[in-house]
Amino acid sequence: MNIAVIGTGYVGLVTGVCLAETGNRVTCIDVDEQKVLKLRDGISPIYEPGLESLMIENLSRGRLHFTCAHEEGFREADLIFICVGTPQRPDGPADLSYIEQAARDIGRHLVKPAVIVVKSTVPVGTNEHVKAVIAANSRHSCQVRIVSNPEFLREGSAVSDTFHGDRIVIGTEDDEAAELMTELYRPFGIPVYRTDLRSAEMIKYASNAFLAAKISFINEISNVCEKLGADVESVAYGMGLDQRIGPQFLKAGIGYGGSCFPKDTNALVQIAGNVHYEFKLLKSVIEVNRDQQTKLVHKALERFGSLKGLRVALLGLAFKPHTDDMREAPSIAVARLLTELGAQVVGYDPVAATQAARVLPPEVVYAADPQQALSGSDLAMILTEWPQIRALEPADFRRWMNEPVVFDGRNCYDPQQMKSMNMEYHSIGRASVLTELSVI
Ligand code: UDX
Repeated sequence: MNIAVIGTGYVGLVTGVCLAETGNRVTCIDVDEQKVLKLRDGISPIYEPGLESLMIENLSRGRLHFTCAHEEGFREADLIFICVGTPQRPDGPADLSYIEQAARDIGRHLVKPAVIVVKSTVPVGTNEHVKAVIAANSRHSCQVRIVSNPEFLREGSAVSDTFHGDRIVIGTEDDEAAELMTELYRPFGIPVYRTDLRSAEMIKYASNAFLAAKISFINEISNVCEKLGADVESVAYGMGLDQRIGPQFLKAGIGYGGSCFPKDTNALVQIAGNVHYEFKLLKSVIEVNRDQQTKLVHKALERFGSLKGLRVALLGLAFKPHTDDMREAPSIAVARLLTELGAQVVGYDPVAATQAARVLPPEVVYAADPQQALSGSDLAMILTEWPQIRALEPADFRRWMNEPVVFDGRNCYDPQQMKSMNMEYHSIGRASVLTELSVI
């Protein structure tokens, strides 16, 4: 099939590249000329395992193209994917201006009938609005059919998630469009669920909100475990054995970040509010997450009394491993609070340091490796469970730090192992390991 993709962010680029890989002719459109030039040279603007090599392969096969010109992308397109961003507005709801612009561009430049597929996460009812905007701007009165096809890929495993996802959701009232979409996704071998437009839009928000709720739930359980002397890792494992609960997204830590959960949970509260429904549970999920992000700083304050003048090594800055994405990363709240409290912050991340320097307080300095970050530090905080950080031996902390005190926000170590090394170790939802020297 001939496909146009509007927007070459995470969702657009991964979608375009993967659809080219399954044999389609794909043209990705972006307004950013510099970005398009780089993409044509096979340079991916994002760090995503496996993406760049697949992109280069499909460029060389002539199945993948990048352009700034909508008319070029739309000329032969059977399907047009809208994959532009819907960032959060300062007051909460999703900013739909890029969606509106994409709809206007389609109206102006479409010269043949096409199926319009909205992949961007949009509030319920937006797809109908997209159709109306296209019609209002249509120069050639081409027939358009609308499909909502929400995206469930995770950063860091986006390519693999696209080829091996659990489900593909197709929301449309149009049978022909549904058939075309089913055909398009046949090579992926993933179950397709067809529903109506509005339900498909809602599935995306509900799924992300539910996963965020699972995380905040286990984080609250971890806070109670700490007070009662239970071990959250063991509790989560025991819970996950129940197939109705499942083991995934029960990893206690310092809360969720990223481009989706924070934005989509806030947007869903707003969407419900717009129809006079107060989504109390989701409001709590958001509040719990906000508090959890700075949990380690509060533990450190309790331990040291004051953090003024102490050197704190932050290990891992991205919102999760295998990405350089710093959006809503817990490290932002942690570094801000530490700086406010007068600590000297040194950050290490194997990939995200450049991005981090744009959003963390200017006082933060960056280390090239864990050794440099830990050397001379009074305490360490593990914020992202990168393999490079998990690979550190307890002995490394002992060798490089003044008097090692480790606060682990991702439960990377076994407390017993730390105890056997006589290390002071504080983690999430488990008893702290203290040494004879620990001052509590
Ligand atoms: C998420 C959804 O998983 C994906 O389906 C959707 O399309 C986009 O949002 P992503 O943001 O890439 O994907 O990352 P994900 O792996 O889901 O992790 C999100 C955050 O939750 C991370 O900060 C992670 O550290 C945290 N998390 C995840 C936990 O704290 N505990 C868990 O058990 C799982």
